[in-house]
Amino acid sequence: MVLVNARKPLSAALRAVAYTPFTPLHPSFPHPFKSLGREQLRWTTSPAFDSPSVVGDDPILVRDFIRSALYDPDHGYFSKRAGPVGVLDKSIRFNQLQGRSAYMHLLDKLYKQHDIAWFTPVELFKPWYAHGIAEAIMRTADLSIPLKIYEIGGGSGTCAKCIMDYIMLNAPPKVYNNMKYTSVEISPSLAQRQLETVGEVQSHFSRFKVECRDATDRSGWGDVKSYPCWVIMLEVLDNLPHDLIFSPNQVSPWMEVWLEQNHGSLQISEAYKPLQDQLISKCAKIIGLDNDHAAERNRLISAATKVWSKAFPKPQRSWIPTGCLQLLEVLHWALPKMSLIASDFSYLPDIKVPGDRAPLVSTKKSGCTKDYSNYLDAKGDADIFFPTDFWLLEKIDHYCSGWSNEHTGSRSSKPVKKRRTITLDTAAFMEEFGLPIKTKAKWLQSTP
Ligand SMILES: C[S@@+](CC[C@H](N)C(=O)[O-])C[C@H]1O[C@@H](n2cnc3c(N)ncnc32)[C@H](O)[C@@H]1O
Repeated sequence: MVLVNARKPLSAALRAVAYTPFTPLHPSFPHPFKSLGREQLRWTTSPAFDSPSVVGDDPILVRDFIRSALYDPDHGYFSKRAGPVGVLDKSIRFNQLQGRSAYMHLLDKLYKQHDIAWFTPVELFKPWYAHGIAEAIMRTADLSIPLKIYEIGGGSGTCAKCIMDYIMLNAPPKVYNNMKYTSVEISPSLAQRQLETVGEVQSHFSRFKVECRDATDRSGWGDVKSYPCWVIMLEVLDNLPHDLIFSPNQVSPWMEVWLEQNHGSLQISEAYKPLQDQLISKCAKIIGLDNDHAAERNRLISAATKVWSKAFPKPQRSWIPTGCLQLLEVLHWALPKMSLIASDFSYLPDIKVPGDRAPLVSTKKSGCTKDYSNYLDAKGDADIFFPTDFWLLEKIDHYCSGWSNEHTGSRSSKPVKKRRTITLDTAAFMEEFGLPIKTKAKWLQSTP
């Protein structure tokens, strides 16, 4: 799905996206719960987990574990040069493919040729996907002022290069001449790769820069930039750290999950504390899972239901996008006039990890994809990615912009800005802004 959040009215024709599933294999795994004590609830990891560098002596939150497993400069999944972001040597000629089966056959061949876990849409549909984004920007931006684009997590640099190509060839010369494209990339190896990709066109180089840093870290942004600008995030939200909250039954308050190393062993256990972390509490409130909401819900629940849920408790786990909240808070602070384009998986198939909005934890070895059922098994060799709940994303964006009721209801002095949000599926986005003639296979083109 694609979320377009513009500060100017969006075209009325803009309605919708096609998300193509790039489906890996999903073998089943045993359920990871081992023990639930009465006083201190714990969840013990499989004994195979032996990475003391991730959890040290002090307990850490789940988001810190995920951040380390994905982005630690030494062992993080995204710190390796080859692997995480697949790049196609040349564009796929969709209009020469005979329908869906020819496309699936080609995908299968490509995955066998490249030892990578995924090709993202911007890679598979290059250059057309990025051209569609460039077209959306050109149709809605005020082109009388210099165009400023930020991209968070630009991967191999394909999106940046293709957007700049499109603007160079299709916009009035002054738009290309005055534009600035800033990439904020956490991985040093991918930052280097972006420079190489964009540098293939010499004239792009003076208009492009890459800042190798964590976009969620406020200090990296320097001062507030009060000019209008665009922010692009493609397949980034799914890899942002999340937290986990837990409730032992249907009526008890939610608790935050911490990870600690067992004394004298390398095993890691979950420990549960009342909600106290600021980011978790804020996120839970936006979702409606905070204790005020729970108390209100409990007031309405009958005594019989309460007894039932104690007698037959169903433990509940909910993954909450604290990394996304952190990123949007920082972006709205640093770039208060930003328009946002975010695309991501709205759904992931065959997730083995338990909980609402749970991630897929997937690794690829010798050409075979393997999914874990325990997130703690990710040790830098596995991608951890979450489906994006676009309804929630819009809520978080409006909260951070100061526009939502929750925020305006508070005593905040922040000025309230109106946000217009449209969520589209990828097919409709390409239909509206792309060149469908280039991205549909032959059989699909002849379909009425
Ligand atoms: C799945 S890749 C997507 C790459 C590219 N956007 C695409 O669609 O092909 C996620 C990208 O986000 C980057 N990333 C993740 N968290 C980040 C953060 N906090 N700050 C900056 N970059 C981040 C990763 O290093 C990687 O380049």
